[in-house]
Amino acid sequence: MSLNTVDLNKQMTRFDQHSEVWLFGYGSLIFRPDFPFLARRPARIHGWTRRFWQGSHDHRGTDTHPGRVATLIRQPGAECTGMAFLITPEVFAHLDFREKNGYLRFCTEMRFDDGSCAEGLVYIATEDNAAFLGPAPEPDIARHIASAAGPSGPNSEYLLRLAEALREMGAQDEHVFEIERHLIKATYI
Ligand code: SIN
Repeated sequence: MSLNTVDLNKQMTRFDQHSEVWLFGYGSLIFRPDFPFLARRPARIHGWTRRFWQGSHDHRGTDTHPGRVATLIRQPGAECTGMAFLITPEVFAHLDFREKNGYLRFCTEMRFDDGSCAEGLVYIATEDNAAFLGPAPEPDIARHIASAAGPSGPNSEYLLRLAEALREMGAQDEHVFEIERHLIKATYI
């Protein structure tokens, strides 16, 4: 079951009058930025951790066999590394459609590598959304990902490209890297 969040996100008008907004990406937005942006910088947000706990019916899976993709889960003291994109507010129409399977826009503070901070937006699929799958052991998540595919391609590509992008940024994410290890094992033996 999926819930289309396009209309809910349209009500988030906080940055509509700004000429530029920072968008924090932590999943496919990092490795597939299919939207115009003015600048891109690695950034971190605090109090959130990346988890492959969100179902994907429209990109990396189907209604009958949803894939597993990333969302953020609140965790005091945690830090999530991602990529911040400086965009104009018009880009949100495209992003809202892309992220419509359960993701809502939230305001967040992000910190850049030089120590400076900015307020901006992040798309999060919260635990109460209809497509939320929730926790599972990493080997099970890897097996699930290995078996799923959707209109945007194999679910495994999402995981592998994200892991590669995080490594290139020097980011540590044990959850993602452990799933990657199990996925590679599951695919090649
Ligand atoms: C994001 O990348 O920031 C949101 C989740 C996704 O589209 O994979």
